[in-house]
Amino acid sequence: MKEKEIKTLIKVCDYEELSAEDRELVDAAKAMTRSSYAPYSRFHVGAAIRMDGGGIVTGSNQENAAYPSGTCAERTAAYWASAQYPGVAMKKIAIAAWTRLHKDKSEPDEECFQRLPISPCGACRQALLEYEALYGDIEVILYGLDCVYVLPSVKSLLPLSFTEF
Ligand code: THU
Repeated sequence: MKEKEIKTLIKVCDYEELSAEDRELVDAAKAMTRSSYAPYSRFHVGAAIRMDGGGIVTGSNQENAAYPSGTCAERTAAYWASAQYPGVAMKKIAIAAWTRLHKDKSEPDEECFQRLPISPCGACRQALLEYEALYGDIEVILYGLDCVYVLPSVKSLLPLSFTEF
């Protein structure tokens, strides 16, 4: 029997090491967490997508009393981007999240961001992958207070993915 190994290259850096453009994208994702509607999980996620041409499209998680009807920040942003700018490639996505659960109420807002980078759920990986298959690699920038992860593509987050139909 043969073996295959799947490797994912993740660049780990500080926020300050990102380019000014990428810091702008991360800042947009962080700002977007403020528009999150998360009365059930109290977990506030923001996503910002850099479109081909330079524009930024943002989204946040939107929950619903019928729990499965809620949508993650990444899909809110990606579906909005595709709906508003059909045919325009998504070049990068930045994601940030915070919660006040399990935290001292006096913690300043900035300290409530996740210490380690937040990573998109499986469903969002699958949804983003489809746009990546159409338009080319989407770089993924995952923000955390302690460090930032940069991945070259969505497929690097979802190897052996389902793309044929
Ligand atoms: N959530 C996102 O928006 N993005 C992710 O990548 C993971 C989870 C949302 C869904 C739900 O509203 C809340 O975070 C808790 O799971």
